[in-house]
Parts: sequence; structure tokens; C-alpha cells
Amino acid sequence: MKLLAPSILAADFSNLRQQIRYTELGGADWIHCDIMDGKFVPNISFGPSIVSAVKRITDLTIDVHLMIENPDSYIEDFINAGADIITVHQEEVVHLDRTLNLIKSLGAKAAVAVNPATPLNSLDEILDDVDMILLMSVNPGFGGQNFIGKSIKKIEQLSKIKKENNNRFLIQVDGGIDKQNISQVSNAGCDVFVAGSAIFKNENITAASVELKKLIT
Ligand code: DX5
Ligand code: ZN
Repeated sequence: MKLLAPSILAADFSNLRQQIRYTELGGADWIHCDIMDGKFVPNISFGPSIVSAVKRITDLTIDVHLMIENPDSYIEDFINAGADIITVHQEEVVHLDRTLNLIKSLGAKAAVAVNPATPLNSLDEILDDVDMILLMSVNPGFGGQNFIGKSIKKIEQLSKIKKENNNRFLIQVDGGIDKQNISQVSNAGCDVFVAGSAIFKNENITAASVELKKLIT
């Protein structure tokens, strides 16, 4: 199953309810929330109060991507705010096994993200324990960046590993996804497609969502 996860980082926050509704009408499956603290990444976005507002706006799965230092201290806050799935960064978390267990013990799905320069073998020990692996196809921190072409090879490699080990995790790709590259990302093995600018910077959010959905299904 191929899932579309619009990232609200690129949305008009003065009109969030309507903007999310437009993506729902276009077939969005999840809502991706990018949490940035100005430390792990050089940008600040929003915190649990916005996530809880999103939860009240939509019944879609709330997908929270934590680009923050010391995520363990905030996981419970985001789950209480309504996160259904929490993604932490491999580069930030020292005791990854402990953090994944913490997320699951609080009733959410647990995922790990890797930056473009982080090798896949850093995930070898947790492949059986995660619900999703997020491959960053830009260096995190900002929406609207260009897709890093060599990510395709990494998606293919992870997809191969998943098949060989009979793993059940979803493969998510995040950064620079648009109508030009989404089919290639899909063919490489992506299950969950994050798209910010390609959806919310389009003057017709519903039509943009429909088009991306069509290209992956
Ligand atoms: C990047 C974020 C992405 C970003 C995607 O740091 O994790 O989710 O918002 O936005 P686009 O699709 O504009 O690259
Ligand atoms: Zn993200």
C-alpha cells in the first residue's frame, strides 16, 4: 500500500483547517508534522500544541517527525497531543533501543530517520523493532529543497534488505518529492511519501494531492 503524507511545514498556518481538508479531499493518508528545535536542525517550526490542533482537525494518521535534540524528553508530550507515529533521528539518539521501546510503551508506532550521509548499516540492529524507516532525501531543516538524486539507490538498498529479512517496516521518504520524481521514488520501494511544497505551494492543494496519489498507485 502506497501512502501520501502531506507535510504541513509548507502549509498556510492561518488557514490550517481548510488546507488539511483540501489534502483529505485529494486522498491524503497521513499528516506529517515536522518538529524542529533550532538545534538538531537550523530552523524552528512548532510543538505539541499545533499537533494537538491538527488532531482535532483531522481523523488521518498523525505522523510526527522529531528533528530535535533529546527527543526522549518530549515523546510523551507529542503522543498526548495525538501523534500516532513518532520518528526519531538515528544521529541524535544514543540509546535507540530504549527510545523505540519508550515510544511503543506509550502506545504509538515507532520509527527511525536517517540523514542523507548516514549509512543504512547503522540500522542493522533495529530492523526487527521498527514500524517505519524514514530515509531523508534532503538534509533536514527546511522545506522546498531539491531531492538528492542518490537517495534512489539508498531506497532500493533498504527495500532489498527489507525483502531479504522479511521485515514488516514501512519505508518513508521525505524531502524534495514532487510530480517529476515521485514515480521513481515509488519504483525504488517507498511506501510512504512525504510532500510539503509540492502540495501546499500549489494553488490547488486538492488537485496536487490527487496527481501525486495517482503517480504512486
Ligand atoms: C525537511 C522536512 C520535510 C519537509 C518536506 O526537514 O523533514 O518533511 O517539510 O518538504 P518539501 O516536500 O518541501 O521538501
Ligand atoms: Zn519531515
